[in-house]
Amino acid sequence: MQSPHRTSCRRRITLSGTSSPAPTAGSAWPSRGISRSEETRSSRHPEKARGLAKLSRLEQLDVADEKSIASLARRIADQPLDVLINNAGIGDAGPRFGHVSIEELEQAFRVNAIGPVAVTQALLPSLRAGQRRTVVNLSSGLASISENESGGWIAYRASKAALNQLTRTMAGELRKEGFICIAICPGWVKTDMGGHGASVSPDDSVAAMLKVVDRLKPSDTGRFLDRRGKQLPW
Ligand SMILES: NC(=O)c1ccc[n+]([C@@H]2O[C@H](COP(=O)([O-])OP(=O)(O)OC[C@H]3O[C@@H](n4cnc5c(N)ncnc54)[C@H](OP(=O)(O)O)[C@@H]3O)[C@@H](O)[C@H]2O)c1
Repeated sequence: MQSPHRTSCRRRITLSGTSSPAPTAGSAWPSRGISRSEETRSSRHPEKARGLAKLSRLEQLDVADEKSIASLARRIADQPLDVLINNAGIGDAGPRFGHVSIEELEQAFRVNAIGPVAVTQALLPSLRAGQRRTVVNLSSGLASISENESGGWIAYRASKAALNQLTRTMAGELRKEGFICIAICPGWVKTDMGGHGASVSPDDSVAAMLKVVDRLKPSDTGRFLDRRGKQLPW
């Protein structure tokens, strides 16, 4: 569905958690040159990411902080937004079952599941005013329930599985408005989270995901995809 508010042929993209000076999948998004697009990137600490700010507008956003989310929504309220990429995430293998703290579980759910939903809800007016109405949630193969035979990564797996369910729910609710909401796994990426031993560079991961995002059709809404666009098992 086309928005009535078409003002430009450029895509307007907002990305969360994409300004870390360290290599992150997020910091690679703009360096891959999302062509003909205007990006707003956000970071918990934009003052530490000044070098990257040259590439796009940079806003403060802590996805675990309601006030920070509301403040971003106010600052960009007058701007249409075509694509929202909820990239921010936290996670590590964590302790074995029996030793996981409540705090660790809460923080993982707060950042990985509640954060993307809260950000998407807050930015809905801007997305409704955009041309693409697309929400891309960075999930993980570790979120797959049917593929989980080994355990481990307890808080991370559970919070990303919750994100998948929330993505599917968001997709169902917003389908009639022409939204496309997907969960996508970037692969095992050489970032702070993925580590040096990972198999994919941030640039290659982002390039592959961008191709998928560019080709999304309304019938793709609610899908859980790998970086090449293949369906992942729930
Ligand atoms: N790397 C992988 O192999 C892999 C695999 C599957 C899925 N993923 C997913 O891909 C996404 C990007 O991962 P990555 O590998 O780039 O991870 P990363 O290297 O750990 O970077 C995560 C980014 O999220 C930001 N962030 C964390 N908490 C935040 C918060 N409360 N508010 C705003 N930003 C926050 C971090 O900002 P700070 O710099 O301020 O901490 C950082 O920029 C994540 O959602 C992750 O779960 C990654």
